[in-house]
Parts: sequence; structure tokens; C-alpha cells
Amino acid sequence: MESVNQAGFWQQRYEQDSIGWDMGEVSPPLKAYIDQLPTSTKNQSILVAGAGNAYEVGYLHEQGFTNVVLVDFAPAPIEVFAERYPDFPTEHLICADFFNLSPEQYQFDWVLEQTFFCAINPARRDEYAKKMSELLKPNGKLVGLLFDRAFEKSGPPFGGTKREYHQRFESLFDIELMELSYNSYPARQGNELFIKLRAK
Ligand SMILES: C[S@@+](CC[C@H](N)C(=O)[O-])C[C@H]1O[C@@H](n2cnc3c(N)ncnc32)[C@H](O)[C@@H]1O
Repeated sequence: MESVNQAGFWQQRYEQDSIGWDMGEVSPPLKAYIDQLPTSTKNQSILVAGAGNAYEVGYLHEQGFTNVVLVDFAPAPIEVFAERYPDFPTEHLICADFFNLSPEQYQFDWVLEQTFFCAINPARRDEYAKKMSELLKPNGKLVGLLFDRAFEKSGPPFGGTKREYHQRFESLFDIELMELSYNSYPARQGNELFIKLRAK
């Protein structure tokens, strides 16, 4: 369990091509969310943490979002992403531990969550909520997907419930939306919640 906190655990998975849950494309609910954002948001600062192969970052970039920061502590997927998107600003490719990001250095309008929360040790979930709230500008939002199921095998991925997420986030965020996603990737249909949490 401790090993999921280490970059080496994930780097090895990328090197062995055994990441397992890579959809190979932007997640449909997130694509739909991005597609309805007004042009006025294109320069907003956006964080995608635990981005991995970062299909969402690629999609945001292709749609003209200019201020997207990719964070992952495993170098392998970042190198692949940089090759795929040579015009993506390299200063926005951050190989670092999310939990070490400094709020003095980084402040975002919104954060996109896609299978990062479920990849961290569940003992760190409150730490995740706190760090996210610190990295968001006042009124900033955390948007994305959280699993709404348990997993038989020990994780990652680590599952969870709406009830748990309410308890973990409600002291730091206004929960504007936390509902079953209606347009999930087929294999995840009925198993993930779309969330929109506003930093208090
Ligand atoms: C399950 S993968 C998800 C990747 C991507 N979001 C996707 O949906 O395909 C989880 C990712 O989080 C990264 N990760 C886990 N803990 C991290 C941490 N503390 N800081 C930065 N990245 C982390 C791993 O290296 C891995 O790339």
C-alpha cells in the first residue's frame, strides 16, 4: 500500500506498459464538460494532477486552452506526452509529487480530476482535499470524476462512496454537483460520479 505513494511504483508500471486502466482517449464526461466551456475560459489556469498519459491535457491543449499544467511524479508518461505534443509549453510539464506542490508557487482557476484520487493511498484522502483547496484560487473549482464503487482486489484503484466524499470534502468545498455520470466511458458506466466542488 505504501508503494503507491512512490513515483517508482508508477514509473515501473509505465515502463512495463501495465498501467491497466488507460482508456486511450479523453474521458467522455470530461470531454463534454470541456466542450461546453465558454471561449472566455481559454486562458484560465488549469491543473491536471496525476495526469499519466494525460489525454485530457492533450484535449484541452487542442481546444486552445493556453494555461494547462500537467503534474505527475512518474517521468515516463510526461516524456511520451512531450513527444506527442511538441508545441505544449515544457514549463507546464511538472514532474513532481502533487503533495509537495507549493500554493505560493501554484494557484489554479480549476483542477481536473481523472483517476488520480483513486490512485493515492486512501489514508491520504484528507490531505488530497486540503492540498486541492490550497492550490485553488478563491472560488476555484475541482471538477472531474470519482469512482462510486468498491474494488474487490486491493488497489489501486481504491474505490469510495458518495457519502464518504461528502464527508471528506464538505468542510473545504461547497459541493455544487456530485451525481452519477450519465455519459461515462462504457466500461465505467454507472460507476463514477461527476463532481464539481467549489473551494470555500
Ligand atoms: C491511475 S493513473 C491515472 C492517469 C490518468 N489520470 C488517466 O486517467 O489515465 C494515476 C497517476 O497518478 C500519478 N500519481 C500518483 N500519486 C502521485 C503523486 N503523489 N504526485 C503526482 N503524481 C502521482 C501516477 O504516476 C499515475 O500516473
